[in-house]
Amino acid sequence: MRRISPGLRAVAWTLLAAGCLGLSRPVFAEDFRPVYHFAPRQNWMNEPNGLIRIGSTWHLFFQHNPSGNVWANLSWGHATSPDLLNWMHRPVALAYEDGVMSFSGTAVADPRNLSGLGTARNPPYLAFYTGHQPDGGIQDQRLAFSLDEGVTWRKYAGNPIISAEQEAPHDVTDGRETRDPKVLWHEASRRWVMVLTHGGQNKASFWTSPNALDWTWRSDVSELDLPGLPGDIEGWEVPDFFELPIIGESGTRWVLLITSAKGSPAGGNGVLALTGSFDGTKFSPDAVDRDALWLDYGRDFDGVISWANVPERDGRRILAGVMNSYGDRPPTRTWKGMLSFPRVLTLRRVDGGFQFFQQPVAELDQAATEIASIKDEALVPGDVHLGGVEGSALDIRIACRPAAGSTLVLAVRQGGSEQTVIRYDRSSERLSVDRRASGDTSFSPEAGGVHLAPLTPDVDGVVRLRVLVDTCSVEVFGGRGEVVISNLIFPDAGSKGLSLTCSGGDVLLDSVGVFAVGLGARMNR
Ligand SMILES: *[C@@H]1O[C@H](CO)[C@@H](O)[C@H](O)[C@H]1NC(C)=O
Ligand SMILES: *[C@@H]1O[C@H](CO)[C@@H](O)[C@H](O)[C@H]1NC(C)=O
Repeated sequence: MRRISPGLRAVAWTLLAAGCLGLSRPVFAEDFRPVYHFAPRQNWMNEPNGLIRIGSTWHLFFQHNPSGNVWANLSWGHATSPDLLNWMHRPVALAYEDGVMSFSGTAVADPRNLSGLGTARNPPYLAFYTGHQPDGGIQDQRLAFSLDEGVTWRKYAGNPIISAEQEAPHDVTDGRETRDPKVLWHEASRRWVMVLTHGGQNKASFWTSPNALDWTWRSDVSELDLPGLPGDIEGWEVPDFFELPIIGESGTRWVLLITSAKGSPAGGNGVLALTGSFDGTKFSPDAVDRDALWLDYGRDFDGVISWANVPERDGRRILAGVMNSYGDRPPTRTWKGMLSFPRVLTLRRVDGGFQFFQQPVAELDQAATEIASIKDEALVPGDVHLGGVEGSALDIRIACRPAAGSTLVLAVRQGGSEQTVIRYDRSSERLSVDRRASGDTSFSPEAGGVHLAPLTPDVDGVVRLRVLVDTCSVEVFGGRGEVVISNLIFPDAGSKGLSLTCSGGDVLLDSVGVFAVGLGARMNR
């Protein structure tokens, strides 16, 4: 838990007020600042970019306005972490300069120096981004590289590597809306592959290169290749593309992630995940399964990409996106937009189709201390459990067996008339997150309401919930992670209460664990 003495707080505010932007000084700002989620030290962020692990360091880049708290001046902000929990703020990696903003993209290692930008002894790291010229509206694809293990980045002198003219034959806007390069090494064809999305269109294009500098268009995949895709899904952006093992089998499936601007279960933007095969030039999608399409059923999880260059001995596919679907309207004064808690994506075959599962990274356990637990107890209507337990940065784990007709009700961030309510309704087999009384929802019509996701108990009748609560967010993982509901909330700092109740029937609590999450002296700085 983040508790600091008034004296220390005064010192911290003085440092902040003095405009002290040294790299390692703690800044204990309030203003809804999350405890264990990344948020920019100050000013605007939207989606993560260039997520890559180099050596033992996790790098996070993100769309950032270094000099304002609104979407403008887009640059790549930068932070690093040893453990995906404690983030160190770094100077801007790719600036808005010479009339070109640095829009979204991804990063890779080039260990064979195929780009020729490094040396055998010191191979380069490559970052691909979209150059956006506000004057004239041109978007093209650009390259930056690092020769110091990702600490500093230089823009490639030969930019753009794919010009708007080269994009034009493959884009109805003549290359004005082609963006968000995802680049990966395809071992079977021994070439680099780039996936681009075409803003405002429902289409991605695939390009290849021997050296990551010279690119050739190879194929498109669009909604026309995806019969069964709901028609209200519109505007593909921020692609990710990778091969994922199928758990319990020797095979793999290729996965294409897309953030759509419209059509998500919670309304507005969301992240859809498609499986298929890939031969190095063309992605052939599997039949669309509408029930296994969305990675999240909440309002605040989009612009999602995964960390590249994770060593095989780790082997995880770790995702993160931005939480904030309301532009500059949330009631934070000094910053906007935060990173979702990093989660591991896995894939299993279920009933002949494929199902994705997500769970928070296990590094969270290092920062979690159990403050309450329940084992093998029956919860009956009228009982209130966890009544005396408090916290605004929590990891809550529940395994329970709800009787027919019952609803399990977990309220978090309770205080006065405020609460955010997580329900599992056994009859409808639905998990929900209710933000109607969650705190300040006045800033946007989309900031309240109830979000629903289908969730079936497992073969033993057990329903599992994992709930990550932070200063202004709630992420709810249902079952083994087959559904997730992620949302921002803005309760009063004093609303820290919890309660666990039920209605309509009993719920057998196999186990309940409430963990306080705190980063202590190593908190985000
Ligand atoms: C963009 O950056 C300039 C230069 O730092 C700054 O003066 C301006 O306020 C910024 N614009 C916005 C809208 O944040
Ligand atoms: C890396 O590329 C540079 C530029 O072409 C070249 O000078 C260097 O020898 C290369 N090293 C290797 C191992 O290819």
